[in-house]
Amino acid sequence: MPKQDLFFDIHAAESELKALAEKLDAADLAYHTHDAPIMSDGEYDALKNRALVIETQFKELARKYGVSKKIGGAVKAGFSKVTHAIPMISLDNVFNLDELDDFLARVKKNTQLRELPEMIVEPKLDGVAFAARYEKGEFVRGATRGDGATGEDITENLKTIKGFKTRLDTNLDVLEVRGEVYIDKKDFMAMNAQAEKFGGKVFANPRNASAGSLRQLNSSITATRPLKLAVYTWGDVSERRWQTQSAFFEFIRKLGLPINLFIVVKTSKELKAVYQKMEEGRSQFPMDIDGVVYKINDLSLQAKVGATARAPRWAIAQKFPPEQALTVLKNIRIQVGRTGVLTPVADLEPVNVGGVFVSHATLHNADELARKDVRVGDSVVIERAGDVIPKIDHVILDKRPEKATPFVFPDVCPVCKSPVVRQVGKAAHVCTGGFACSAQFHEHLKHFVSRKAFNIEGLGDRQLELFIEKGWIKTPVDIFRLKHYRDQIKTLDGFGEKSATKLLEAIEVRRTISFDRFLYALGLPQVGVVLARTLAENYRTIEMLKAATEAELNEIDGVGDIIAHEIKTALSLSHMQDLMMGFHQELTIIPLEKKKTEKTIFTGKRVVLTGTLSELTRDQAKEKLLDMGAKVSGSVSANTDFVIAGESAGSKLKKATELGVKVLTEEEFLNYV
Ligand code: IVH
Repeated sequence: MPKQDLFFDIHAAESELKALAEKLDAADLAYHTHDAPIMSDGEYDALKNRALVIETQFKELARKYGVSKKIGGAVKAGFSKVTHAIPMISLDNVFNLDELDDFLARVKKNTQLRELPEMIVEPKLDGVAFAARYEKGEFVRGATRGDGATGEDITENLKTIKGFKTRLDTNLDVLEVRGEVYIDKKDFMAMNAQAEKFGGKVFANPRNASAGSLRQLNSSITATRPLKLAVYTWGDVSERRWQTQSAFFEFIRKLGLPINLFIVVKTSKELKAVYQKMEEGRSQFPMDIDGVVYKINDLSLQAKVGATARAPRWAIAQKFPPEQALTVLKNIRIQVGRTGVLTPVADLEPVNVGGVFVSHATLHNADELARKDVRVGDSVVIERAGDVIPKIDHVILDKRPEKATPFVFPDVCPVCKSPVVRQVGKAAHVCTGGFACSAQFHEHLKHFVSRKAFNIEGLGDRQLELFIEKGWIKTPVDIFRLKHYRDQIKTLDGFGEKSATKLLEAIEVRRTISFDRFLYALGLPQVGVVLARTLAENYRTIEMLKAATEAELNEIDGVGDIIAHEIKTALSLSHMQDLMMGFHQELTIIPLEKKKTEKTIFTGKRVVLTGTLSELTRDQAKEKLLDMGAKVSGSVSANTDFVIAGESAGSKLKKATELGVKVLTEEEFLNYV
């Protein structure tokens, strides 16, 4: 592949680096802020390595972007920040024996020894890093790594973890220990099973579960999770009372904190044997480990070889290859998610992969399925890269049964039999059933009652679930017929006379609704608040909208042929007709006033809101702008006409200034309102 070639053209290198930076930022955000990764570790490492290749060749790009040097994620909203007294740097990786030998050779060279110095080998725990600071033995602060310089304050959360100690028997002025918070595989499976049963959050793997559990604003949630921890290093210390890494472990063990497993080795042969043993025994570890870490044991030698800004030179991680197993694919099944996305799932002959029993694998989408040409009856190699839902790595073609035929993706939904469409430009196939599809019903209903739609107070997720379960809500129209169940509602768990009345009143108030809100509530494909409003400005009733041709819809600002087609299709589905009849019986839908013709300075202009406003909420400001004929967008580009910048506006304001876009303060904006 020419991909690994050196570049001759800095512009090509820069544009690739920018694209890498974007992907990595998105991956960082998903992983660190949302605890829900969008790519595997392997893919992430590959992108990061590629960035390193480019930045090594072009130092000016490294200075400008620094993609390969970035660590971790930002502080999650709501957490206080903790500045690390000593940065929490990361570890470099080696992926094979050659790279390991290079590392060992560097250690010898940098320590100026003829033989390899004593090394320590530890499992690399696949959890989330933490730091805990003790002052005179008293626990004072806990933090996550964050971006290495600043982390999140998790003081209260750490206190809830079994094995953690808020008091250590030491007179050291400062002792900051660092290590990993993790969840055992067994506990993770139980926790997910529980969540599945009772509607809690289901995590992709133990690592995400650890991160999601530790980074809770409410520490009583953390307390319910089966978190464990192990210390493997230190940060700020007032006096170092140990001369080796292994002595540090002994020191911490005596203080009663859990420590990581470690093995001291004297030769590279021994070191490699320990790696081998750990890789082979990987599935026997109670927790997920994704490799091993080698460290120079002697701290004076560590100091001699030093560290870079990103990672120490005295340690390295060797990652394990992903865990794989061979099995047979018994069936391909289509799962319909709550948002209507169809996902092919492979049912497998159950097999043990790295200590976790696996009986299905995701096939992601139709493209992926076709690319891998996976067929029922195939022998497949499956891979668990830390994730519980493993993926099919490849098919063993030699073992393919003669009769195996390619999988044909369905064109109707397996749940409700509505037509399936493929979203243009996306890999996903989606069921058009909406409210008629039981798989999506709940999610659609949630949208229907949400703040910007019908905005029914007191009708939340839990209440909807209850009423659906009782069979009182079968279509959204039924919400307006709930009053017939008043007596039963009163007796439900969590309800009483007062709250039942309150809820039914809240529903009554919403029997009259503006057409734009109603349209938004329907949850038509691609129709958000803004488009719903535009449509309502152009058509007074749902019948008029239905009668519009695709060509007419296409004329409307914000609608292209794809959206026009999707709206038209959705409105003509037979279950929509039934719904409309019901709505007309129950609701009064008010057409929008004709668009204001009065011209304002915002008429037809593209406006971006950023930062925190003090007089108005974001939504109110947006509404005012729309009233004045503006198009409100989320990102700043050369086409933006105005940016309205509130308190602590960040990157958008910066970009606006760079692009010379006119910036208004909140005060200036309010003058026009
Ligand atoms: S030592 C200065 N030891 O893996 C280096 N880290 O990918 C301090 N990790 O940042 C880290 N197990 O969060 C060390 N036995 C172990 C580890 C370990 C897991 C984590 C740690 C580190 C990351 C690097």
